[in-house]
Amino acid sequence: MNTPLPISRRSFLAGTSALALAGGVSEVFAADETPLKVRAARKGLRMGAEVVPHLLGDAAYAAMLIRDVDMVVPGSALKWGPLERMRKVLDFSGADAVADFAQAHGMAMRGHTLLWHDQIPKWLPRRLANASKGPARIIEKHIDEVAGRYRGRMHSWDVVNEAIEPKDGRADGLRNSLFLEALGPDYIELAFRAAAKADPEALLVFNEYGHEWGWDAGRKRRLATLRLLEKLLGKGVPVHALGIQGHLAPGMKGAMDMPALGRFCDEVVQLGLSIQVTELDARDTSINGSIETRDRAVADAYTRFLEVVLARPATKMVLTWGITDRHSWLTNHFPRPDGDIVRGLPYDTDYVRKPVWYAMAAAIDAAPAR
Ligand code: XIL
Repeated sequence: MNTPLPISRRSFLAGTSALALAGGVSEVFAADETPLKVRAARKGLRMGAEVVPHLLGDAAYAAMLIRDVDMVVPGSALKWGPLERMRKVLDFSGADAVADFAQAHGMAMRGHTLLWHDQIPKWLPRRLANASKGPARIIEKHIDEVAGRYRGRMHSWDVVNEAIEPKDGRADGLRNSLFLEALGPDYIELAFRAAAKADPEALLVFNEYGHEWGWDAGRKRRLATLRLLEKLLGKGVPVHALGIQGHLAPGMKGAMDMPALGRFCDEVVQLGLSIQVTELDARDTSINGSIETRDRAVADAYTRFLEVVLARPATKMVLTWGITDRHSWLTNHFPRPDGDIVRGLPYDTDYVRKPVWYAMAAAIDAAPAR
């Protein structure tokens, strides 16, 4: 579908065509609202979304997910900080709620994330520095505990998240994180090996951002990612897929270099890895104009990105980071100058489909089967 069409909320909730409900009002149409997950399944793809555990009890929120996705990932509940705010007191309630929801609705679940430099417990840096048996033991124990709990139930795990930061000035482009400081670059290998031990069936993913950037920073990030993956694979480390986050920034000059992303995907595939789009969204923070203009820019960004990644049969899934603008990290983290909420996801704040939903549907329909 090329043009976004007006959508009736009632039609979504009733699961029937807008035309039938509107009694033939001419500007309302019978759009193809076949759920995204059904369209994706036809292509051998999975469609997923990041979810907020405590919202799963909201029937309208849950209904959107049940309709459109067959995979969910908790946004923050499995990060080390929120999980273990107090040392040795692990709160799995959020992640368990997501696991229960996934099971009840026949969905797969992803784990995000075992090691990330951000959202870590306050006590962790000191603990790593003072560990009597060494910092490796602490990281292994964490991974064993968390991945072990969901053993056999996770489709995939973001084992290490955002370990690349060329700005930190290292020759290998790795981020100078607390894990790197404690253990050197081998912490990444250690994490993947521990995850494979804890959950031998899960696909183990290295997850990163900025692969679509056109700036020199993008080139450096792609290069550092490839070198890292090559090195890990060369040592027989169990890495199975690259997670491309896909936090797009349309309207920002140079933020989306699609040919460079395409070449990068091909190089990742040549390493023998599959690709997962793990956190897709597009902020309209730099887009001025009407809601229509903003929504069009966001939809176009998804189209351009999905065309490239879905053209590669090694791309096995697409997850958006959230499903509705009502609950999106974008509004807090990339506020618009006019203070309006950021409209970066398939459903608006009233849970009505936006042009970007149709852009996703069209991109999936146009993708080759895998
Ligand atoms: C974000 C969450 O959505 C927010 O709620 C939280 O405040 C910050 O983290 N890349 C990632 C995700 O890998 O974990 C981040 O999630 C978004 C960027």
